[in-house]
Amino acid sequence: MNIIVVENEQVGGREGYKVFEQALANGANVFGLATGSTPVTIYENIVASDLDFSEKTSINLDEYQGLAGTHEQSYRYFMDEHLFNKKPFKETFVPNGLAEDPEAEAKRYDQVIADHPIDMQILGIGQNGHIGFNEPGTSFDITTHLVDLAESTIEANARFFADKNDVPRRAYSMGIGSIMKSKQILLVAYGESKADAIAGMIEGPVTEEMPASVLQRHDNVTVLIDKAAASKLSQKFDVKA
Ligand code: GLP
Repeated sequence: MNIIVVENEQVGGREGYKVFEQALANGANVFGLATGSTPVTIYENIVASDLDFSEKTSINLDEYQGLAGTHEQSYRYFMDEHLFNKKPFKETFVPNGLAEDPEAEAKRYDQVIADHPIDMQILGIGQNGHIGFNEPGTSFDITTHLVDLAESTIEANARFFADKNDVPRRAYSMGIGSIMKSKQILLVAYGESKADAIAGMIEGPVTEEMPASVLQRHDNVTVLIDKAAASKLSQKFDVKA
C-alpha cells in the first residue's frame, strides 16, 4: 500500500485530487465513487478544476434503502449536490433506494458494474472498518447486496439526520468482491475516530471482521490519511502540509 499522511483534510483534498488527475491522464473511464464527509474536499477540488468527466462513467458504492434520490440524506442527492450538478459525467449510477425487489436491484447493479469495469475506486472507511456498507463479518467474495446496518454505523451516520430514528436501517452496497476488482483504489480517512480502523486495515490480520483489511491483497492501493487517523500505526510517516 502506498500511504500518504497529510496535515488535514484540506491538504487531503488536494492530494486526493491529484490521484484522480493522474487516473484520468492514464485513461481511466469508470470511477467508483463514495459518499460520506471524507471525500468532500476531494470533490471540491475536482469541481474547482478544469478536469473533464463529460465522457466518463461513475458508479457509486451504496445507497440507503427506502430513500428516494430526491431525499436530502440519500446518497444520490449527496452526489448530485457535491459533484454531478457541478461537474457533469456522461452517466452516473447509484443503487435505487426505492427498488421494490431488493434481489433484482442487487442483480441489476452487479450488471452495471460488469458492463463498466471500474478503473479507479475511492473509498472512505467506517469506524468499524466497513467499506461501502460492507460491515464486519461480510464475505470477501460478496457482490451487491442489501445490508442490515450495524448499530454503530447507524449511530455514526445519525449526525446527518434530524433524529437517530430517521436513519434507514438497511442499505444497498456494492460488495467487497466487486470493490477488489477495481484496477486502482484510493482509501481516504480523517480523524482520530478512524485511527483503530486504519491500524487494523494496514497492520492487522486480513480478516472478514475488519472488512478494509482485504485491501492488503490488492496490488494498487493508495491510503490517504491525516495525522490523527495515522496515529495508531506503528510506522512513522512524513506529514504533507
Ligand atoms: C458511510 C458510508 C461509507 C463511508 C463511511 C464513512 O457508512 N457508507 O461509504 O466511507 O460512512 O463516512 P465519513 O466519511 O462521513 O466518515
